[in-house]
Amino acid sequence: MSKGLKRRPAIPFCVFLFVWCFSLYNIPVMNFRPIPLENKVVLITGASSGFGEEAARMFAEEKCKVILAARRIDRLQDLASKIQDAGGEAIAIPVDIVSPEDVDNMVKTAVELYDRIDILFNNAGIGRVGWYEEHSLDRDIDLLIKVNLIGMMRVTRMVLPYMIARREGHIINMVSVAGLIAAPLIASYAASKHGARAFTDALRREVAPFGIKVSGVYPGPASTEFGKHIGSNVAYQSFRYKLKLRMSSTYVARRIVDVAKRPRRSLVIPWWFRIATTTEAIFPYLVDWITMIFSKFKHK
Ligand SMILES: NC(=O)c1ccc[n+]([C@@H]2O[C@H](COP(=O)([O-])OP(=O)(O)OC[C@H]3O[C@@H](n4cnc5c(N)ncnc54)[C@H](OP(=O)(O)O)[C@@H]3O)[C@@H](O)[C@H]2O)c1
Repeated sequence: MSKGLKRRPAIPFCVFLFVWCFSLYNIPVMNFRPIPLENKVVLITGASSGFGEEAARMFAEEKCKVILAARRIDRLQDLASKIQDAGGEAIAIPVDIVSPEDVDNMVKTAVELYDRIDILFNNAGIGRVGWYEEHSLDRDIDLLIKVNLIGMMRVTRMVLPYMIARREGHIINMVSVAGLIAAPLIASYAASKHGARAFTDALRREVAPFGIKVSGVYPGPASTEFGKHIGSNVAYQSFRYKLKLRMSSTYVARRIVDVAKRPRRSLVIPWWFRIATTTEAIFPYLVDWITMIFSKFKHK
């Protein structure tokens, strides 16, 4: 280190902080001029409710051709009609992402129709809350991994060769803040989402030479139908109602469309959840201690 820097240790510290903030908020890799989304073919899994449904509407407003996929075909058809009535373009394909045949059919139908998939929004997912010893092996643990992790990987595996052939594409994976911080009561969900994060990061690094972008989206709690299917747990309910931090699905969907316009490696929503995720990365023992106190009082 030069004499000047030795005398002013604040300088290297400020440089480090500046570079770190830049990298944390993806500034070096972010497109400041938004990419026009007009005519992009967007495949959205889990489009029958919540983030997927809202994002589908917003992508259609940007003049994208949207392919809506989920199990509840009636809801998808209803949404497709609404988008078409508003002057947009949308088709509905029934799919259970746990089924290899369904996924194969979905991707082939989409490619036959549009010849390409420009943006894949891997959004379908389920949750489960409860103390881990109460989780059932098949309904909770197995299914969560099959839908949230293997489902996402399966859809991507089928879409990727088409993107590689065209040397372009953008894969947006819906992870969760639970993919960055593993909290009590959501062990199976956190495991599936940590897997989804690892998959997202590895894939980004692998397919970048082909011009394919891979982004991870990490929202905190939001108001969607998700809460209706996660099961009930007294400790979770008391925590959830005390913590009145619920984003609207419209807000999250708007941010997802922004990721498509300005691709970046990751997006934590809301931004200040970064404080918690950074604390977990730098002071894991502190987070252990806080969460263990929670378990001590609630896990009876
Ligand atoms: N809400 C939150 O607090 C929150 C926070 C962070 C991350 N997330 C993640 O965001 C994603 C969307 O959740 P959401 O909040 O919008 O909940 P949601 O309203 O319950 O939507 C979940 C979607 O996934 C679909 N889906 C579930 N299992 C499927 C399967 N086997 N095959 C195909 N589609 C399936 C559902 O459609 P069908 O039932 O019609 O198949 C539905 O469209 C999930 O990955 C979730 O983990 C949610």
